[in-house]
Amino acid sequence: MKKRMLSGIKPTGQLHLGSYIGALKQFVDYQDEYEVFAFIANLHCITVYQDPIELRKNLRDCVALYLACGLDPEKATIFLQTDIKAHAQLGFIMNCNTYMGELNRMTQYKDKVAKGEKNLTGGIFTYPTLMSADILIYEPHYVPVGEDQKQHVELTRDVANRFNNRYGKTFTIPEPLIPKIGARIMSLQDPTTKMSKSDHSDKGCIYLLDSPKKARKKIMSAKTDDLAQVKFDTVNQPGISNLIQIYSSLTGINFSDIETKFDGLGYGDFKKEVANVVCSKLEEIQGKYNEIINSNIIEEILADGKTKAEVLANAKLDEVQRKIGIEIKM
Ligand code: TYM
Repeated sequence: MKKRMLSGIKPTGQLHLGSYIGALKQFVDYQDEYEVFAFIANLHCITVYQDPIELRKNLRDCVALYLACGLDPEKATIFLQTDIKAHAQLGFIMNCNTYMGELNRMTQYKDKVAKGEKNLTGGIFTYPTLMSADILIYEPHYVPVGEDQKQHVELTRDVANRFNNRYGKTFTIPEPLIPKIGARIMSLQDPTTKMSKSDHSDKGCIYLLDSPKKARKKIMSAKTDDLAQVKFDTVNQPGISNLIQIYSSLTGINFSDIETKFDGLGYGDFKKEVANVVCSKLEEIQGKYNEIINSNIIEEILADGKTKAEVLANAKLDEVQRKIGIEIKM
């Protein structure tokens, strides 16, 4: 029997190169080896206000991009989080099995507080407990995520162990699967911060639906340094190291071969080559995306995914509810 793998992406804004390299690419690479469950985390994204019209568009785009990036619905189960009502229900149960102290320690939340972000919602604070439910309800062995989500998977492991100790073996303890290369793709404009949808400079983030011309421009103006050497050194050359990671992840060429290949060449030549590789990937993805986005294949795949995922999720929720005593029947 194949081992199971599960992961999700929030459809907040457009998917970008960081979410592709850190997560989506792994779902695709592993779909032959593992039983992959890939969902769209549409509850997670409303922890911050989303314009409803834009959100609806982003949802379809997100499914279309899963497919355009190579996820095969014959191999992977693709579904919307809200189509499986059991996620939210188990989410509340997980919330009741997680301590405030644990949630207070979550880096993503702490960063938002430290930055003085206003009007943080209860959803932002408790979102790791919903994420635990998303994961545990399918009993995956592995959860492929970028570096920033590792802490949430570790919390999931702690909560699952606590639950198993209290109520008897119920959940498989999942392992985070962090890619060796590209677990944290950085902003092109500020290579000390993560490439993200909330990047204040649009120039720092390459969206999968950016025109190749726009993406090329962003790469050519990526912040570098004055050391004039293509060398992987995240401390002294974070910008160049970030471009090396992107190039390596998309070509499969290792860091030292990249350093040798560009030895003695200027940053302009290196950036041009990185841009060529990124643009040809974007063209490939966008070609498929354009075929998919206006077809009704998206609805069909989600309906199919819902049918498959629901059976597993409902059975697990039922087991949990019986174990904790909130059902009358045994
Ligand atoms: P989200 O939507 O912020 O990010 C989706 C995935 O992309 C990875 N990622 C990155 N990887 C490398 N470099 C970057 N710059 C970069 N930006 C994003 C993230 O680590 C993540 O793997 N809470 C999750 C979604 C979620 C989930 C789950 C994931 C909800 N339930 C259950 C796994 C299992 C999130 O907000 O990811």
